[in-house]
Amino acid sequence: MLPRHLWVLVVSTTAALAAATPTHSTRATVCNGRAEYCSRLYSNVTYVGSHDSFAFSSDPLALARDQEVNITAQLQLGVRLLQAQGHMNGNVLHFCHTSCSLFDGGTVLNYLKAVKRFLDENPNEVLTLLFTNPEGLSPRTIWKPIFDAAGISNMTYVPPSLPMKQSDWPTLGNMIDSGTRVIVFLDSQADGPQPVNFILPDLHLGNTLLCHERLIPCSVNRIHGPLATEDHIYLINHSLNINIIPIGSGVIIPDPLEAVTTNGVTSILAHANGCTPLGGNRAPSFVLLDFVNLGAGFQAAEILNGINL
Ligand SMILES: *[C@@H]1O[C@H](CO)[C@@H](O)[C@H](O)[C@H]1NC(C)=O
Ligand SMILES: *[C@@H]1O[C@H](CO)[C@@H](O)[C@H](O)[C@H]1NC(C)=O
Ligand SMILES: *[C@@H]1O[C@H](CO)[C@@H](O)[C@H](O)[C@H]1NC(C)=O
Ligand SMILES: *[C@@H]1O[C@H](CO)[C@@H](O)[C@H](O)[C@H]1NC(C)=O
Repeated sequence: MLPRHLWVLVVSTTAALAAATPTHSTRATVCNGRAEYCSRLYSNVTYVGSHDSFAFSSDPLALARDQEVNITAQLQLGVRLLQAQGHMNGNVLHFCHTSCSLFDGGTVLNYLKAVKRFLDENPNEVLTLLFTNPEGLSPRTIWKPIFDAAGISNMTYVPPSLPMKQSDWPTLGNMIDSGTRVIVFLDSQADGPQPVNFILPDLHLGNTLLCHERLIPCSVNRIHGPLATEDHIYLINHSLNINIIPIGSGVIIPDPLEAVTTNGVTSILAHANGCTPLGGNRAPSFVLLDFVNLGAGFQAAEILNGINL
């Protein structure tokens, strides 16, 4: 994973106000915690995402950690996108940070079982999973059997066709009503020789636009698909790293001491508003954070969603 730095942007922080006009009603009356969201397209909501969600530790000496609290706690706080990196450890798929000898977050099966428990206990929540697949493992023979075993496969959303434009996605209310409220993206091999209908390519078919916080104000990154830029839903990586050994290329780790500022409303809105003009004048769908329990990421997302706080 690339080292990332945060630049606090000096731009206007006017929140984009969303017009929540119900077009048709759904059975679900509260979606992702708010009635207003039921009639919003999945792609027209800003969600807080947890970067390297599996790499949690309350031990400050665990330098490869990106989070302090476990998956269940992250979800209970309001995280609605979980990002994680899959690596084979022996014959078993684990979530690990760069390598399993650096940080082993345990098996993907145990992780997905914790996710399933949360989904069962919270039937009106829509959740996105964004997994990276640096070893290019087969969606069909490696990833899908784990989703099956965790009981998540039949809760996933299968798009009618790919690529999906921003305007093609259903509403949160529709997803909850139909029980298909888990959206799964994989960054590599999802469009390879062994595809699975619910494991969606995040980049190569152009489903996601990643903004790059190192450039000011923001640049479009990793778009390869046939969609026009403004038809994408997009994600911003909003994390601050610190170089603890500033020699050569250094040793870069996430900085929990700065997380309260980095995850503050001012910093997040500055970054998001800087990206909005490049994203079809829409806010990012996903704001990926380190240390989601620190700062005010959830409040920033509600402001981007036009909720009057
Ligand atoms: C997750 O963390 C919470 C406290 O934040 C704790 O109560 C819970 O037992 C933990 N869950 C697991 C599976 O360790
Ligand atoms: C998924 O399968 C379980 C167990 O067979 C079943 O209870 C549940 O209703 C199914 N969900 C959907 C959305 O089909
Ligand atoms: C943003 O984070 C995602 C998920 O970790 C990663 O795939 C992507 O490369 C990152 N983008 C940049 C510009 O670092
Ligand atoms: C949702 O739509 C509103 C109105 O067009 C816009 O202001 C807002 O930025 C959109 N948010 C996302 C995440 O697309």
